[in-house]
Amino acid sequence: MAQRIIIDTDPGQDDAVAILLALASPEIELLGITCVAGNVGLPLTAANARRVCELAGRTDIPVFAGHDAPLRRKLVTAEHVHGKTGLDGVDLPAPSMPLQDRHAVGFLIETLRREPAGSVTLVPIGPLTNIASALARAPDIAARIGRIVLMGGAYFEVGNITPAAEFNIYVDPEAAQAVFACGAPITVVPLDVTHKALVTAPRNAAFRALGNRAGATVAAWTDFFERYDREKYGSPGAPLHDPCTIAWLLRPELFSGREINVEIETTGQYTTGMTVADWWRVSGRPANALFLRDLDAEGFFSLLTERLRRL
Ligand code: RIB
Ligand code: CA
Repeated sequence: MAQRIIIDTDPGQDDAVAILLALASPEIELLGITCVAGNVGLPLTAANARRVCELAGRTDIPVFAGHDAPLRRKLVTAEHVHGKTGLDGVDLPAPSMPLQDRHAVGFLIETLRREPAGSVTLVPIGPLTNIASALARAPDIAARIGRIVLMGGAYFEVGNITPAAEFNIYVDPEAAQAVFACGAPITVVPLDVTHKALVTAPRNAAFRALGNRAGATVAAWTDFFERYDREKYGSPGAPLHDPCTIAWLLRPELFSGREINVEIETTGQYTTGMTVADWWRVSGRPANALFLRDLDAEGFFSLLTERLRRL
């Protein structure tokens, strides 16, 4: 039985690779894509999500626009990383498939209420505004969510947008706080893991060697967005943050982590947006998330490359 998921996203090149990996994997049934403002503004993230569906020949996937700003804060974007379109590196044509009329939050609530409890997994890979908004409007859905597998946060790896905070959490810390408190099972894919998923030159060459449009496009995207991490961290390649969530669904054995307590800082002068991960279990606070820390990078890239070959 395929894993039925909804991806909530702010594409972003790495988001785009996550969507392609999901679409290339028969173990996964993508019920819909909900878009949120994050890497770039909502009009672009909603267009980019459709560009990726069209690239994969999957105009059947319903794409919804959600929140264009955090619950209570001004939007912070990341054009410095992803370029002004959010998908710089390749010129994909403007999408011709339409956006759905429904708001993303309405789609999330309606789907979770309609489908059997526990049968739908949410995969948020951008700021958590849409998910928190759905929980606030319909608290009953918390008990119906099968699992939330989110890319966000950091602990040993510390922050990437501030010294303390990872971007997805930082953009909307109040939304993240609500998600981590909602009681649904959560898997956190933090920078601790995704900074080990680096697209080195051989891995990029393997994408290109696929000889298909998906491989060439992913190679061009990662060529573009690696420059930020290369400059800042001296990394040998772009960190493929968001696809790690889909890879965990497909092959959890490629990852390792601990069930621990994770709280979100929302008021710290220097630490707002920090995921305070109690890895050493010193707080006495109840565990509320599987916090991943390690990844078999070779295994991840062979899975990703093999799946991209199918597109
Ligand atoms: O910090 C990395 C996260 O922020 C990724 O989801 C990337 O796409 C950006 O949204
Ligand atoms: Ca993202």
